[in-house]
Amino acid sequence: MGLDAVLVTGGAGFIGQHLTSRLLANGRKVVVVDDFSTGQPLEEHPLLTIIVGDISDSSVRQEALSQVKSVINLAAIASVPLCENKPEVSSRVNFQAAQSLFLEASERGISAILHASTSALYGVPEGLPLTESHPVNPIGNYGLDKQKAEVALLSIEQSPVCALRLFNVFGLGQQRGSPYSGVLTIFSEKIIQNKELTIFGDGNQSRDFVHVTDVVSAFVACLEELEKNGVESKLSGKKFNVCSGESMTLLDVIESFSLYTKNEIKVEFEPPRDGDILHSLGSFDSLNKAIGWKPSTDFSQRLQELLL
Ligand code: NAD
Ligand code: UD1
Repeated sequence: MGLDAVLVTGGAGFIGQHLTSRLLANGRKVVVVDDFSTGQPLEEHPLLTIIVGDISDSSVRQEALSQVKSVINLAAIASVPLCENKPEVSSRVNFQAAQSLFLEASERGISAILHASTSALYGVPEGLPLTESHPVNPIGNYGLDKQKAEVALLSIEQSPVCALRLFNVFGLGQQRGSPYSGVLTIFSEKIIQNKELTIFGDGNQSRDFVHVTDVVSAFVACLEELEKNGVESKLSGKKFNVCSGESMTLLDVIESFSLYTKNEIKVEFEPPRDGDILHSLGSFDSLNKAIGWKPSTDFSQRLQELLL
């Protein structure tokens, strides 16, 4: 594996599979580290190396880092309720392993270090849309550990680093059959199976749903910019929202789904989840000004795809 390779931790996961495919299609060599806790098997590819292992394990990190030019850190426990149930795992993977990876990558002089941060850092919004200057005030274990990881990354000055604060990412390929998947995956699967949907709360909570292909484009564009301009890059040391700039309530989402199915959609209501926030809507102006990135997805069309 040549030293132009990119390490994608969590490369077998939902976003990771899409990102890995795009990098390979662009002719980049990719090293994936994944413990396959939620990841799915990856297709073999001549430019792809897969290391099955835990990013909490320093020997796994060293093996991977020794083979690559750049790093994109996606490995994490991505589910808010799972992090509430397993705080020690959230802390170990979402914070400590990420911090170690960033420091070790920087010590090795890695060309670019990118990280999947989250809009969960903002906590309860003081105003919408959320910009990167909004105070950071996460309310659950997931958001707190992801915040600590982001702080650890952005405090590294000697390497080109950048955090992308992803909003609610959706699209095909998210793990099915898991209560810890994103709400659009869970709802679409239940609609196909004619099962009752569960709404935690009253359904008026809103989210900014950004399609996975737009998220992948953001990572690839930021990677190329950081590799080109290093610490002088306008991205280096910064965090950027990656979002659609639009939000929908869960009730809106269910109404949209109902346009694309003949099945009757049945709904039950349960109390809100711990650590859940009510509203989320981002502004992508910052990343747009920096590198011209903007989302290009038609939400309704992409929602329809989930039911096919
Ligand atoms: P995912 O669960 O599909 O992917 C995470 C991957 O990491 C999986 O393949 C899993 O097997 C792997 N993994 C978990 N723990 C690991 C460990 N200790 N060592 C090695 N691999 C490990 O989740 P995703 O939706 O693809 O999320 C990817 C990243 O994006 C995460 O960091 C998440 O916090 C962040 N993010 C996701 C969203 C979203 O809406 N999906 C939004 C904001 C941020
Ligand atoms: C999601 C991501 C998280 C990311 C964050 C960014 C997943 C699994 N989680 O968290 O990684 O950092 O966006 O904002 O992708 N809900 C129901 N019924 C269900 C499932 C969910 O009502 O069956 C509700 C939840 O209570 C919540 C909303 O739908 O109010 C969204 O939940 P979810 O898709 O898990 O996303 P977030 O918690 O926002």
